[in-house]
Amino acid sequence: MSEIVLNVRNLTREFRLGAWGSSATILKAVDGVSFSVRQGRTLAIVGESGSGKTTVGRVVASFDNPTSGEIDLEGKPILQMNKRERKEVRKSVQMVFQNPLSSLNPRKTIGATLEEPLKVNGIGTHRERSVAVSAMLHKVGLQEEHANRYPGSFSGGQRQRIAIARALMLQPKVIVADEPVSALDVSIQAQILNLLMDLQDEFRIAYIFISHDLSVVRHIAHDVLVMYRGKVVEHGPTEQIFSAPAHEYTRTLLDAAPSMRRAFG
Ligand SMILES: Nc1ncnc2c1ncn2[C@@H]1O[C@H](COP(=O)(O)OP(=O)(O)OP(=O)(O)O)[C@@H](O)[C@H]1O
Ligand SMILES: [Mg+2]
Repeated sequence: MSEIVLNVRNLTREFRLGAWGSSATILKAVDGVSFSVRQGRTLAIVGESGSGKTTVGRVVASFDNPTSGEIDLEGKPILQMNKRERKEVRKSVQMVFQNPLSSLNPRKTIGATLEEPLKVNGIGTHRERSVAVSAMLHKVGLQEEHANRYPGSFSGGQRQRIAIARALMLQPKVIVADEPVSALDVSIQAQILNLLMDLQDEFRIAYIFISHDLSVVRHIAHDVLVMYRGKVVEHGPTEQIFSAPAHEYTRTLLDAAPSMRRAFG
C-alpha cells in the first residue's frame, strides 16, 4: 500500500446563519468528518446537494478554515503551521473547479496563467518558466502555440485541460477536483477523466474527487466517502460501496443515479 498523503480527523465546519446574536442558527456544514488519501489514489466524495462536499474540499485545500479538527499533510499537522509553512502546503494541495471559464482569468493568456504560480513563488527564470509551461501544455494534450491565446478562445474541454495544467504547475501532492467534468459534454468527460487518471499514474498524485455522478465515481475512484448532512455515512473501497452498500442512504443514492451503463475509456 502506498503512503498516506493526507489525513483528516474529525473535521467540522460550522456556518452562522441569519442575524448575529441570539436569533442566529449554527449550520454544521461538515460534522466530524475523517478520512485519509494515499499517494496515487482517488477518494471520491459523494452525497446529495448541500451535504458538505465542497466545504470539505475547500478546507482541505486551505481556501477555508475548519471550526475544529485536524489535517495532516505527509504526517505534518497543517492547521498549527506558521504562515510560511502554510504557504508550502498551499502549493501541495491544489484545487480544480467545475467551471474552468470562471476559474480562469479571461484577460490573461494561457501562458501567463500557467506561469503565474511559478512566478509568484519565485521559481525559475522567465525562460525556464516558459519551457515549463510548454511542457505542461503538452502533458495535458494542448500545444505550445496555445500559450498565446486567451481562455475565451477554447472549448470547455480544453479549458478544463488548462485548469488542470495550472493545478499541476507546482507539482502538488493532492488535487481536490470539485465536479471537474460535470459542466462538460459526456463525450468530453471521458477524455478529461482519462487525462486525470494518466496524470495520476505519472505523478502519483492523490485526488479528492467530488462528484454527483456515480458512474464517473465508479470509473475513477479507488475509495468512496458518502456524505449526508455534513456527516460521513459510509466510507470504503469503491467496489464494496457499489456492490454492497451498507447504509440505506447510499442505497437511495445509488437507486436515484441514472443507469451505470455509460461507457468510459
Ligand atoms: N460560506 C457559507 N456560508 C453559509 N453557509 C454555507 C457556506 N458555504 C456552504 N454553506 C452551507 O453548507 C452546506 C454544505 O454546502 P456545500 O457547498 O459544501 O455542499 P455540497 O455537498 O458541495 O453541495 P453541491 O452538491 O450542491 O455542490 C450547505 O447547506 C450550504 O448552504
Ligand atoms: Mg459542491
